Amino acid sequence: MFRLKRTHTCGELRAEHVGQTVRLNGWVDTWRDHGGLLFVDLRDRYGKTQLVFDPAVDRAMFEAAKGLRAEYVIAVEGEVARRPEGTENPKLATGEVELRVRRLEILNRSATPPFEIESREAPSEEVRLRYRYLDLRRAPLQRAMLLRHRLCTVIRNYLNRLDFVEIETPILAKSTPEGARDFLVPSRLQPGHFYALPQSPQLFKQLLMIAGYDRYYQIARCFRDEDLRANRQPEFTQLDLEMSFVTRDDVLEVIEGLCAEVMRELKGIELSLPLRRLSYEEAITRYGSDAPDLRYEMTITDITDLAAESDFQVFRRVVDGGGVVRGLCAPGAAGRYSRKLLDELTAWVGQFGARGLAWFRVDEEGLNSPIAKNFAPALQRRIRERMAAAVGDLLLFVADKPEVVAEALGALRTRLAGELSLYSEDSYSFCWVLDFPMFEWDEDERRWTATHHPFTMPHEEDLDRLESDPGNVRAYAYDLVINGEEAGGGTIRCHDPEIQRRIFRVLSLSEEDIEQKFGFFVNALRYGTPPHGGIALGLDRWVMLLGNYQSIRDVIAFPKTQRAADLMLGAPSPVEERQLRELHIRVVP
Ligand code: AMO
Ligand code: AMP
Repeated sequence: MFRLKRTHTCGELRAEHVGQTVRLNGWVDTWRDHGGLLFVDLRDRYGKTQLVFDPAVDRAMFEAAKGLRAEYVIAVEGEVARRPEGTENPKLATGEVELRVRRLEILNRSATPPFEIESREAPSEEVRLRYRYLDLRRAPLQRAMLLRHRLCTVIRNYLNRLDFVEIETPILAKSTPEGARDFLVPSRLQPGHFYALPQSPQLFKQLLMIAGYDRYYQIARCFRDEDLRANRQPEFTQLDLEMSFVTRDDVLEVIEGLCAEVMRELKGIELSLPLRRLSYEEAITRYGSDAPDLRYEMTITDITDLAAESDFQVFRRVVDGGGVVRGLCAPGAAGRYSRKLLDELTAWVGQFGARGLAWFRVDEEGLNSPIAKNFAPALQRRIRERMAAAVGDLLLFVADKPEVVAEALGALRTRLAGELSLYSEDSYSFCWVLDFPMFEWDEDERRWTATHHPFTMPHEEDLDRLESDPGNVRAYAYDLVINGEEAGGGTIRCHDPEIQRRIFRVLSLSEEDIEQKFGFFVNALRYGTPPHGGIALGLDRWVMLLGNYQSIRDVIAFPKTQRAADLMLGAPSPVEERQLRELHIRVVP
């Protein structure tokens, strides 16, 4: 048991408490010996308070205090005093006062931590992950955890107000149609059978609509065994929601209201609604990405018709072959990119399939470049006008098939915007990307796959080409994009069993496939399914964007590495032979 239970937290004391006797509990942050006095910063998650130990108060206590080390857990009692003039610390909320300690109780010692909790330099990520409980004591992670908590609170308050019901769905489940690899859990009771961890609550939430719950949400854990890129985790959290008797715009409106409330409550920013809406087509042609960053413009501009009039053989050949010539105008960049840097950019766009990068510096005379001679002065003027270019700008063009041009210029646009500082780090730009294609051609499997998922509703006016021209069928699908990151995605679902059957046929799913994979669901659709639709927002990505974190790992309490390992737990790990036997599993080395 301990005696000196806290009356205040370490972030609480102010000038108005001067003269009061209080108790604090916390961790020893730093300590300094100064002219016979000992100063200790005591830390808890609320803040820090300076403690003063004076041998004149109690010699034995003072000696004990000299034995304190970093991360010892202590309890103290003392009198709040104003700090002597000139020693206040305006950076600390409690910086006007200090606690003159009269009693000290050491609650626990600490082994020497592998890194200093408050050191300005972040320890290596490996050490941080191995000692995550210590990392979580550090300010950046604390800030992330609190931000995450506040975000969830705002979300719940908002949706509860709109009559949404929070419902939990199973973790031990069956494969869901998000298209990633499943994590499997072997069944002990049914040899050779497996559960799949849900990639999302997709089918459950649709079943809840069939069940009549009307407006559902869940802050749901999702599991996807994907190759981990920077902003992906094998388990992550979605704000998942679904609504009945709605059209696309109803879902968008609910989410826009949520975005506005989140930005107001957490950032003090008033979003202007409705959010900008782009079609997928427009996003790809103007920004070269289905998740365009709209914090800056620098759009992709088509000059195919002008390129056809030039004498530049590279352009002419591409145009004659049915390709396009498109480019970017990088403002004020003419002087910033030397020949060497331009060669480097040219090589860099190669990874996106571009066979070259044609560039021009815009100067008083016109366009300046080794290839400028192939463009007559009048044509140069028209290109300048089309590109809205000013003297000092840099024009960059790629000639190729539209898909290659979009991908290369989209990547180039992002890179140049960063290098040219075209946006400020703490600005936000939200938009919707709508009308994604319903199907994508999978070259490896040589069949159509669903871009979002097979339970999505195609546009009514595209239904008659569902079988004849699946590549040009648009879906009622929408992505929410924040600062060039896909922050959420959803669709209006297909509630018509006949259309659903046609979609399955386009996907080359046999009756057996359908029965085996989604039989339960297709069956449920027959029992009075209301029109419905929904969305899921990537909660971790939201916290990352709102808190300006670089990595998704920084906003998850116990994240996994790129190799999907938990370094603290040492997971995954081998298990005992006996456990495997019970699960009817043999490991083949
Ligand atoms: P989708 O697969 O687009 O849709 O996922 C929705 C959002 O979840 C986030 N996200 C991830 N975040 C971190 N790590 C990952 N591995 C990861 N994968 C996805 C993204 C993404 O926009 N059931 C559908 C939603 C629906 O149709 O209602 C779904 O899961 O921010
Ligand atoms: P070349 O005539 O091949 O030496 O190319 C002259 C310039 O055109 C170089 O700057 C190349 O990078 C560029 N270029 C070549 N192919 C393309 C292309 N498909 N699109 C845009 N620029 C290209």
